[in-house]
Amino acid sequence: RTTYHIAVIKGDGIGPEIVTEAMKILHLAGEKFGFLCQFHEVLAGGCAIEATGQALPEETLEACLASDSVLLGAVGGPQWDTLPGEKRPERALLGLRSGLDLFTNLRPAYLQPALAHACPLKPEIVGEGMDILIVRELTGGIYFGKRGRTKVNGAPAAFDTECYSVPEIQRICRVAFESARKRRGHVTSVDKANVLESSRLWRTVFHEIAREYPDVTADDMFIDNAAMQLVHNPAQFDVIVTTNMFGDILSDEASMLTGSIGMLPSASLGATRLGMYEPVHGSAPDIAGKGLANPLATIASAAMMLRYSLDQPAAADAVDRAIAAALADGWRTADIADASTPEEKILSTVQMGEAVASLL
Ligand code: NAD
Ligand code: IPM
Ligand code: MN
Repeated sequence: RTTYHIAVIKGDGIGPEIVTEAMKILHLAGEKFGFLCQFHEVLAGGCAIEATGQALPEETLEACLASDSVLLGAVGGPQWDTLPGEKRPERALLGLRSGLDLFTNLRPAYLQPALAHACPLKPEIVGEGMDILIVRELTGGIYFGKRGRTKVNGAPAAFDTECYSVPEIQRICRVAFESARKRRGHVTSVDKANVLESSRLWRTVFHEIAREYPDVTADDMFIDNAAMQLVHNPAQFDVIVTTNMFGDILSDEASMLTGSIGMLPSASLGATRLGMYEPVHGSAPDIAGKGLANPLATIASAAMMLRYSLDQPAAADAVDRAIAAALADGWRTADIADASTPEEKILSTVQMGEAVASLL
C-alpha cells in the first residue's frame, strides 16, 4: 500500500480536538481506498513555546519539509497575546507558510444545501448553493513586509508595509484563472487600487494575466465594496483573488455565509505537491476543551489534502460526500444548530467526527 507521511501540528485551543477527528477520517479513508497515512506529530505555536521556548522549532519545519503534507489545527491563545510579535505563536504559522513556500491559499466557501437555515442571509439573497473560491496570496504583502517601531514628531509610532513584486502577483493570479477554468469561469480581483500603490500594480498585473485566459471573465473590485457585495449578492462571485490581508478578512466574512466559521477549510499550496491543510478559523479559546468545536472545517481540509497533495481524488470525494451526508441527516454541532434542531441531533466534536466516519 502507498504510505503517505503526514506531519501533524495540533496546536493550541481546540486544535487537538479537531485535528484528532480529521486524523481518524484520513485513517479510515486509507483503509477504504488502499493507502496508509503515517502521522508524525510535531509542535508549533503556543504549545511549542511552552515545550521548547520557540513557536516554530527547527525540527518542526524540517519534519514538514520531509513530509507529503501537513495537517494543522490552529495556534495562538490569550496566554501568549502579550509576547512581542516575533515570539508569538502566530509567527509559527507565517514561518511554516514561507518556509514551505506556500504562496497559494485556497479557501472554498460553499453553502451546504442542508445548512441553508444556518446562513444569516435570506434565502433569496444567498441564492442556490453559494459557492465561492477565495484565492488568497499567502507569502507576501503586509504580512511579510517591513515593520517596526519608530518615532513620529517625537511620539512612539509603529509601521507595517505592503510590498508585492510582479512575479508574486502573476503566479497567484494564474492560480485563480486556472481554478476558474474548472469552475464557472469568472475571476474577481479584490484590491484597494484607489489608495494603495501595491494595489495599482496588482490590478495592472491581474489584467495582463487575464489576457492569457480569454475564456475566463475577469473583473476587479475595491475591498470595501467587495466586503459589502459579499453579503448583498454573494452569487455574483465565482473565484476571488486577493492579497494576503484582504483574503484573510474576506474569508472569515465568507465563512459565515456557509453557516459558521467552523465549516471553512483551506489548502496552502506552492509549486510542489507539498501542501499544508488547516481550517480557516483559529484556536477558539472560548470553547477549547469543551467538546463544542465543529470539526468539519478540519475534516474538509483533510479532504483537500487527499485531493491536492496525495492524489486520492476518489477518497477526497468520499470524505466530502460523508460530510454532506452527515449534515443532510440533520447532525449538527452547536455552531450550526438552530432553534429547530432537536436536542438529540446536537453533537460534540467527537460525535460529529464519528457521524462522518460512519457515513464514509
Ligand atoms: P477564532 O476563529 O479562534 O474564533 C472566533 C469565534 O469563532 C469564537 O467565538 C470561536 O468559538 C468560534 N469558532 C472558531 N472555530 C470554531 C469551530 N471549529 N467550531 C465552533 N466555533 C468556532 O478567532 P479569534 O478568537 O479571533 O482567535 C483566537 C486565537 O486563534 C488567536 O490567538 C488567533 O491569533 C488565533 N488564530 C489562529 C489561526 C490559525 O492557527 N490558523 C487562525 C485564526 C486565528
Ligand atoms: C488565518 C489566521 C492567520 C492569518 C493568523 C493566525 C496569523 O487568521 O489563517 O486566517 O492571518 O493568516
Ligand atoms: Mn484569519
